[in-house]
Amino acid sequence: MKIIFLGAPGAGKGTQAEIVSEKLSIPTISTGAIIREAIKAKTEMGLSAQVAIEKGELVSDEIVIGIIKDRIVQDDCKNGFILDGFPRTISQAEALEKMGVTIDKVVNIYVSDEDIVKRMSGRRVCSSCGASYHTVFKPTKDNKTCDKCNAELTIRKDDAPDVVKSRLVVYHEQTAPLEAFYDKKGILVTVEGQEELEDTTKLTLKALDIK
Ligand code: AP5
Repeated sequence: MKIIFLGAPGAGKGTQAEIVSEKLSIPTISTGAIIREAIKAKTEMGLSAQVAIEKGELVSDEIVIGIIKDRIVQDDCKNGFILDGFPRTISQAEALEKMGVTIDKVVNIYVSDEDIVKRMSGRRVCSSCGASYHTVFKPTKDNKTCDKCNAELTIRKDDAPDVVKSRLVVYHEQTAPLEAFYDKKGILVTVEGQEELEDTTKLTLKALDIK
C-alpha cells in the first residue's frame, strides 16, 4: 500500500504515520526528518536546506524530489511506503506521478490553525533518534529524556511561535491545494484530528480500512 499523509505542520502526520507503518510493516518516508538529519550531518544538501527550514519556508522542489526518487527505489519500499510531508506542492505531486508511483490513499489530517499553534508549543524531540513527544499529549516517563534512547529532549527551531505562523501561511498557500488535487482523483480521506492521540489513530485506521 502507498499512502500519503497530508496536513498542516503539527497536525499529527508523523505520529499517525509511525503507527500505520508498524501495522502494515512498511516504511515511513519523512522528507522533514531526512532534511534534519542532513543538517545535523552538515552535508551539502543539509546546508543548502537549513536556512529555508529554520525560517519555516519550503525547501526547493529539486532537493525534496531528489530525496524521494532515491528513497523509494530502496528494497524496504517494495511492498509500499508512507509519505509524510511529501508532496507539499502541486509540482511535487506531479513529479511523483512522473516517477510512476500510484498512490492508494491520501489521509488529510485536519486541525485548526489555533489548535496547531497550541500543540506545537508542547512538542519535544529526541536530540539523538528524533522521536517526537508532547509535554501533555505524549509525555516521556520523565519529560526530559527520550523513552527509546535516553538522550535529551529538545525543541525544534522551527517550532518557535513566529516560525509556526510562517509555516501555516506556507501550508495554506502551497500545500492545501493538494487536497483538491487528490480529491479529484477520488483517493482523499479527511480525518479530523482529535484532542487525544488515540482517537485520531482510531479514525485514521478506519479511513485506511486497517483492523
Ligand atoms: P516536517 O518535519 O515534515 O514538518 P511539518 O509538516 O511541518 O510537520 P511536523 O513534523 O511539524 O508535524 P506533524 O504533522 O508530523 O505532527 P506530529 O505528529 O509531529 O517538515 C519540516 C520542514 O522541512 C518544512 O517546514 C520544510 O521547510 C521542509 N520540508 C519537508 N518536506 C518538504 C517538502 N516536501 N517540500 C519542501 N520542503 C519540505 O505532531 C505534532 C505534535 O503534536 C507532537 O508533539 C505530537 O505528540 C502532538 N500530537 C500529535 N497528534 C496529536 C493529537 N491528536 N492530539 C494532541 N497532540 C497530538
